[in-house]
Amino acid sequence: MKNKLNHIAIIMDGNGRWAKNKNLIRSKGHLAGMEKVREITTLIAKKNIPYLTLYAFSTENWKRPKQEVSFLMSLLRKYLKNEKKTYIDNNIKFNTIGDLSPFDKKTINAINELKNTTKENTGLTQSLALNYGSRDEITRAVNKIKDNIKEIKEEDITNALDSKTLPDVDVIIRSGGEKRLSNFLLWQSYYSEIFFINTLWPDISSLEIENIIEDFEKINRRFGEI
Ligand code: FPP
Repeated sequence: MKNKLNHIAIIMDGNGRWAKNKNLIRSKGHLAGMEKVREITTLIAKKNIPYLTLYAFSTENWKRPKQEVSFLMSLLRKYLKNEKKTYIDNNIKFNTIGDLSPFDKKTINAINELKNTTKENTGLTQSLALNYGSRDEITRAVNKIKDNIKEIKEEDITNALDSKTLPDVDVIIRSGGEKRLSNFLLWQSYYSEIFFINTLWPDISSLEIENIIEDFEKINRRFGEI
């Protein structure tokens, strides 16, 4: 029997190198990456996969040059405003994981507006990981519960994470050729199938994602059993 794919998560790497290869400035790579976010989100929605989580900005990304950070923030706001129709037309619910407290008011408002507009949608839940780091998420979760629980169980942590409404991740895809998880969904990926692909994110194709989904469906998943 085919494995059911509930939750796919993607580390969208390679925007900068894509731009460099074309003699363009890095921001052009992020712009092309944003277009791919729309294409791949729509594809996953059409395939009736219930959860998609995309690593859009990590807790470590603040260390990039100020100019790049502010470009990524303005791109995010543009995306949240311009893509409303994509979410409505495809019945997609918008969600975030990560600590939103350092974002400015304009960005928070744009995030909340898209969450509000799409809250009754019943198809795909797309989560953007924003100022997200797995260690930060787990640390915040433990701090939330530490004073109220005598003995912390796994499920207490799971239920205190930003991802509490999302199932464990079945598939993690990382584009761009690096083979690491970079502080992404470390708790939720404990039995994920991981696909590292060389394609730079702006070059990713729907076919490539569909092939990964097909490969996943055939894997013998044992979860530690034999
Ligand atoms: C990695 O490329 C990408 C990011 C830092 C974040 C992902 C951002 C996007 C896909 C574009 C914007 C998306 C939204 C939702 C507005 P990199 O810069 O690390 O590439 P490199 O490793 O080649 O330098």
